[in-house]
Amino acid sequence: MIIAIDGPAASGKGTLARRLAAHFKLPHLDTGLLYRGVARALLDSKASLDDAAAATIAARVLKISSLDPVRLKTKGLGEAASRVAAIPQVREALLALQKDFAHQPGGAVLDGRDTGTVIAPDADVKIFIEASAEVRAKRRHKELVAAGENIRYEDVLATIKSRDTRDSGRSIAPLIPAKDAVLLDTTHLDIEAAFRAALSIVEAARAGRGRS
Ligand code: C5P
Repeated sequence: MIIAIDGPAASGKGTLARRLAAHFKLPHLDTGLLYRGVARALLDSKASLDDAAAATIAARVLKISSLDPVRLKTKGLGEAASRVAAIPQVREALLALQKDFAHQPGGAVLDGRDTGTVIAPDADVKIFIEASAEVRAKRRHKELVAAGENIRYEDVLATIKSRDTRDSGRSIAPLIPAKDAVLLDTTHLDIEAAFRAALSIVEAARAGRGRS
């Protein structure tokens, strides 16, 4: 079974994907880590985030096994990742390994921006997570403050809105729900309620397909 979960920054899709993967004992890929990995490589080598040639080389040598969430899930890297993610050659270079991950025997859970539209259009279940920008910024701000960051809510909101605009407006693989995705609005749901809702979407899809 392939489960594809897409949605905007700080929508909670990563947490839901991890929990669904644990529940169904499936491998999980947070595809955002790939773009973060490319951005990290460029920053480390002092290359510009707009250097398409350097970014493409970094994407070609990237290995899923070398992606370290602790190093890559930092606040500043999300914006940088969103810039390299708009480079078509970078997306092309990262396509095969994501498709292979999704289509491994037994299936997988993937989360990102284009997992239901581009990476696995054949996914058994597609969920598109939505939540207002204000609620997403509030959640992200709370996490950052708990982690010891001194940051204003307004700045978190502005970054989230700018990423939304870039991710939804780019010409290649923009952030849009697949036509057959189930929309899950988590604006008024806590993580437990969101997980239960996601689980029932998956169970309904499995029941519809004869529990494949
Ligand atoms: O989800 P995360 O915040 O780690 O993603 C970082 C950036 O990577 C996103 O803002 C987006 O631009 C890009 N991305 C993407 N396609 C994906 C996953 C992430 O373009 N499938």
